[in-house]
This record gives sequence, C-alpha cells and structure tokens, in this order.
Amino acid sequence: MYKVLSVVGARPNFMKVGPIHRALSAKENIESIICHTGQHYDEKMSKVFFEDLEMPKPHIYLGVGGGSHAEQTGKVMIEFEKEVMNLKPDLVLVVGDVNSTLACSIVAKKLHIPVVHVEAGLRSFDREMPEEINRIVTDSISDMFFVTEDSGEKHLLGDGVSSERIHFTGNVMIDSLVHFKEKASRSSVLADNGLSKGEYLLVTLHRPSNVDSIESLTTLAEILNAVAEKIKIVFPIHPRTMNNLKKNKLSSDNDTIILLVPQGYLVFLQLMQNSKGLLTDSGGIQEETTFLNIPCLTLRDNTARPVTIDLGTNILLPLDKELILSNLDKVISGNWKQGQIPRMWDGKAAERMADIIEDFLSK
Ligand code: UD1
Repeated sequence: MYKVLSVVGARPNFMKVGPIHRALSAKENIESIICHTGQHYDEKMSKVFFEDLEMPKPHIYLGVGGGSHAEQTGKVMIEFEKEVMNLKPDLVLVVGDVNSTLACSIVAKKLHIPVVHVEAGLRSFDREMPEEINRIVTDSISDMFFVTEDSGEKHLLGDGVSSERIHFTGNVMIDSLVHFKEKASRSSVLADNGLSKGEYLLVTLHRPSNVDSIESLTTLAEILNAVAEKIKIVFPIHPRTMNNLKKNKLSSDNDTIILLVPQGYLVFLQLMQNSKGLLTDSGGIQEETTFLNIPCLTLRDNTARPVTIDLGTNILLPLDKELILSNLDKVISGNWKQGQIPRMWDGKAAERMADIIEDFLSK
C-alpha cells in the first residue's frame, strides 16, 4: 500500500482535497491520509467544511492556529516534520498557496519525500502578497505539478520545469462545485434571509490590501452603502475583516446589507449560484463564478487566474469608488460579458490526478 499524505490548512484547501481524497481512496493500492495543520481553526472556517464536503475527520491535526507568517509557518513545519517522520508517506500532496502549503512542502522535501503541488504555476507577479511567495517556493521544490489553466503550464516551463513533470489536470475546486451543486440548492438560506434568485449581490472581502487599513475599509463601506440603495447585499464576513471592522468601530445599520458570519460550503454555494453577481477579493471565487457564468468584480490589481478574465466572467478593479459603482450598475442591469468554461473544468480533475499519482508511485 502506498501512503499519500494530503495537507489542508485554510478554508480554500478543503474543497480541493475533498475530491482528491475520494479519488485516491478508490484506488486499491493507495492509502489516502489527510493532515489538517489547523491554520484555520474556527468551526465556521474549518469543521463545517469537512461535514459539508463529506470528508472524514482529518487523520492528523496539528492545531497550529494563527500568528505572524513566520510563527505560523514555523509551527506548521515543526509539527508536520514529526508526523512525516513517524508516518513515512510515499508522497506528500499540497494544494494552493497558503502558509501551510509552503511549510509542508519544505518539510517533505527535506525528508526526501516527493511533493506534488496541486494548482501549480499560478502567478500574480505581486511579491507583496504572501501567497505569491508561497507559490514560488512551493513550485521551486515540487516534483510533480498539477495545473488548472494554461498560464500555470507556461510559468512552470518558463522556470525550467521539464514538461513531463507538468500535468494539465483541470480544476479540482470545480469538482467539488459540480458534486455538491444540487445538494447546496436544498439549503434554506435564501428563504431564511428573505432573498430571491438574482436579486442580491454577494460580497466577500478578506485580503490584507483591502481590509487591513482604515482608509480602504472606509471606502469599501461607502461603496456598499451606495450599492445598497439599488440592490440587496449579502456579506459573509471573514474573521480578519471582522476583527478590523471592530478595531475601527465600523458597523452597518443599513437593512439592505445583510451581514453574516462566515458560511459553510453548501450555504455559500447556494448564495453564490443564485446571486446577481459577486464583489470579492478571493482567488477561488473568481474560478467558481466563471464556471457558474455569474459576473465577478475582483477588487485587486492583479490575478493569478487570468483565464477567468480571458475566458470567464471576471474583471479586475482597483479600489476606486466611481469605477466600482459603474461596473456594479452594469451587473445590476444584466449587461455583462458571457463567459466560457475553461478546459477540463469538468468535475473530473481528481480522477485524473489519482491516475497520475498511481502511475508515479508504481514506477
Ligand atoms: C489565509 C490565506 C489566504 C486565503 C485565506 C482564506 C495565507 C498566507 N493566507 O488568509 O491565502 O485566501 O486564508 O481564508 O495562508 N482567524 C480566526 N479564525 C480562523 C482563522 C483565522 O479568527 O479560523 C483569524 C486569525 O487569527 C487572523 C485572521 O483571522 O487574525 C487571519 O487569518 P490567517 O490564517 O492569518 O490568514 P487569512 O487572512 O485567513
């Protein structure tokens, strides 16, 4: 039996590892083991995802919690090393670009365990973002690369990675969406909040560049208040954003802005698939809205996922009130570009990955 140890740490990892764990577990010669670093630890940021995504309780839990980048990365490395030495996996699988991805790939490589990076090769070319550093370092030491879009392959080849180590597998996050779309539609979240299909905007904001300063938070509050005159807004608030709102004593008494705690996977999917459009700074949501053909306004200067702009429904916007409001008007009036679904975003990425992993291990 080969042991594959998959790492999850933060919210956007769970919906990627869920389908991979299912596909690996279906292989007779592979034991799929999940390690949760505990980078995200609140029930609403973590436990609910395991339930929603029908994943088993993680086999290993490191419980590292928050901290500065060095503290968090260091704690994950120290704890993960002990587990890897004990378990001796044949392969470590990391996904995305969070601190846990970086920490665990370094540990595995230094113990001479091969590493596969899922969602490899993406680049924002903005080295101020911690995720960009995490991607560059992880890709520089990984053995095998699973890519979601052409840009990933291009960047890896440009960095000198040989083509036989790069596999265009498609987007495993979309596997979860395809698998759970129907189940999500049974959620009562719309009725519970007095919402109807296509009659509200969904907002998520958590990037330090948008929510860590009082200036940007105030601009965002002005934008939301202005939009709320025209359409309802639903805003599930990430802990980072909530902490900063509280610190700056910002709140809303506008009753067309519905503020929610972070939502689980199924409820959020239901909110997303019935919304008029999204205003976000998330990475994954740019991909999910492209798949769902729903307008997405991304409040960032760059994206690591250019296919969502070239083929999909996404656009980038700076934190400029007039520009954002005029684009939201287009969304509200239904005047938005039609997207296409990128290659191999078809719900079968995890099966392709499991076949490639099986091949790799048996060589
Ligand atoms: C992390 C990822 C980011 C990803 C995001 C999704 C890195 C560098 N960043 O950012 O790429 O888009 O997750 O959410 O890995 N907190 C809680 N409860 C939790 C988790 C966090 O209260 O369950 C608090 C932390 O204590 C901290 C803040 O929220 O004060 C931010 O958490 P942190 O894990 O540092 O980074 P994120 O902003 O979530």
